[in-house]
Amino acid sequence: MIKKAEFVISNTDYRLCPKENLPEYAFIGRSNVGKSSLINALVNNKKLAKTSSTPGKTQLINHFIINDQWFLVDLPGYGYAKTSKTQRALFHEMISNYLLNRSSLVALFVLIDSRHKLQNIDNEFMIFLAESQIPFVIVFTKTDKLGKNILKKNTDNFRKEMLKSWEEIPKIFLTSSETKEGVIEITKYITKLNLNLK
Ligand code: GTP
Ligand code: MG
Repeated sequence: MIKKAEFVISNTDYRLCPKENLPEYAFIGRSNVGKSSLINALVNNKKLAKTSSTPGKTQLINHFIINDQWFLVDLPGYGYAKTSKTQRALFHEMISNYLLNRSSLVALFVLIDSRHKLQNIDNEFMIFLAESQIPFVIVFTKTDKLGKNILKKNTDNFRKEMLKSWEEIPKIFLTSSETKEGVIEITKYITKLNLNLK
């Protein structure tokens, strides 16, 4: 389904991103959660988006064009403790300006490490999305690092925690860039959204 994937441009300013005439899907989440790796798994090219075991690798808004028809966008992570306050504030501004102003953004994928409990920073970020009416889904990453039972326990627990402050829980995908779990499901989901736009 993804036959072609090419890097287009990197930006710090949303106003310099490609023309908003194609649908786009962006990936966000804490630093090191696996955003760039998941994009690479989706396009089946380990070198397209830059990944690193050190948090803070992706520092720009990166556009990739898929099948000449839609964009995947790799964003910097939030909540990276080691960057300076000024740098964090700049990242925050860059990301929120992009999210609030990008009219062609169809859906945002919010990535969460499947080993972690619901964290304040993720919950607060999702509340910001809901308040800003930015459509999003949740993606649990790195499922290969957990056994089936613990994974189930963690995801049930996450849903339960979320229901304490949310009326409804968005769609959740389980993924691994290592085993490729969830890759087909995400591709199909995007394909379906693209068709709905026509
Ligand atoms: P920043 O750009 O720094 O915000 O990070 P990111 O969210 O883009 O994470 P990235 O894809 O660079 O991955 C971070 C680290 O996690 C790398 O060492 C990856 O190899 C590893 N990683 C990512 N996804 C998976 C996964 O599904 N399974 C495993 N085992 N490791 C993963
Ligand atoms: Mg990255």
